[in-house]
Amino acid sequence: MQYTTNTLEQHWMPFTANRDFKADPRLVVKGEGMNYTNHKGERVIDGASGLFCCAAGHGRKEIADAVAKQLMEIDYSPHFQIGSPPSFELASRVAKLTPDDINHVFFTNSGSESIDTALKIAMAYHSARGEGYRSKFVSRERAYHGVNIGGTSLSGLMKNREIFGSVMPGVVHMRHTWSADHRFQRGQPTVGAELADDLERFAQLLGGKNIAACFVEPVAGSTGCLVPPKGYLERLREICDTYGILLVFDEVICGFGRLGTPFAAQAFGVTPDIMTMAKALTNGVLPMGAVAVKDSIYDTVVDAAPDGAVEFFHGYTYSGNPASCAAALATLDIYEKEGLFDKAAAMSDHFLDAIFDLQDLDIVTDVRGYGMLAGFDLAGGSAPGATGAQALKKLYAAGLHVKLTGDCVLVAPPLIASKGDIDEIGGILRDVLANM
Ligand SMILES: Cc1ncc(COP(=O)(O)O)c(C=O)c1O
Repeated sequence: MQYTTNTLEQHWMPFTANRDFKADPRLVVKGEGMNYTNHKGERVIDGASGLFCCAAGHGRKEIADAVAKQLMEIDYSPHFQIGSPPSFELASRVAKLTPDDINHVFFTNSGSESIDTALKIAMAYHSARGEGYRSKFVSRERAYHGVNIGGTSLSGLMKNREIFGSVMPGVVHMRHTWSADHRFQRGQPTVGAELADDLERFAQLLGGKNIAACFVEPVAGSTGCLVPPKGYLERLREICDTYGILLVFDEVICGFGRLGTPFAAQAFGVTPDIMTMAKALTNGVLPMGAVAVKDSIYDTVVDAAPDGAVEFFHGYTYSGNPASCAAALATLDIYEKEGLFDKAAAMSDHFLDAIFDLQDLDIVTDVRGYGMLAGFDLAGGSAPGATGAQALKKLYAAGLHVKLTGDCVLVAPPLIASKGDIDEIGGILRDVLANM
């Protein structure tokens, strides 16, 4: 199947060099297991689970069947003042995976919507407690929290925020956790916990009682897999407790087994107050996100409203959409039946071996990784991102899909990956990067 630039023109593609792409498109037309097939009929191994979504691999018939069945039963139902069973079932299934006292789940359609929802939940919670003056939010340099207005303001990536980033007032950023001292350290860096004290400094500067919430990706994903230093998340938790600040873990990438546990909260043994999720919730098959909160947050917001009144003025037309819920339920069944979270934990060593093995290449300037998520930096070229753009094309031409952010390569294969699949990914990375 061939495509001309003319037929591609009308789609303004997201986060894409549109002119470049349309001159030499990379289209995938089929997905099965670990592999895509591109429009030229060639196999492309998926080293990024699509975009960190397809943890159970591609072409999962169980999910397609569940969605088809759901569509024939009830295609759409609103969830404002009326409901349908799948969303209730899904909320209780998600609550079984979240830490103990996080048992209430609000549905969205994406990670970005989950972030905006979490911001509003934090505001609603403080307002219900008579602390509506808590209007400041703390985020972090190099953070990625999606692209809606709230997430863009929380963002710590210059390109994502330089034009639009100051839309939401009152957002301050802690330092990121990357340090040259951590280069090539596998797992959690041993130094750097004190970087969490930036939160305390903001509490001292702005008044801790004015801060509503602190948002962090437990492992900063899109920016390049920055694993939290030992003790860092624990310290954030302590500071949040001291000042009554809500701790929000953005689990959009880390959630659903990527770190070998249901969520990063369990991997690092730190329980946040609010967790945002999306992506692998439905194996990427249908758009869906969720925000899970502590019971005390739900109870506070709900109990503050008069009897019979709507308690939280927020929601989406597709919050809890039945077909998306059916996809998510079938996905969670697969994770459970195939033990994919445990499989990820067991495969992590082999995976990290394969990626850390690349550190002898001249072009590789740092490697990081945890669980089944790894990132490594490429020596810069003529401009920031130029080497990365070139690597993306060469790797794809050699039959490997990975995610590039600037000059950083992110690798996050489906959790069904065998040792052989991982060796193949490592082999393509080595062959291509050694010749750049
Ligand atoms: C940590 C994190 N939060 C939020 C998002 C935004 O999710 P979405 O693209 O589904 O809006 C992403 C997407 O990569 C993410 O990695």
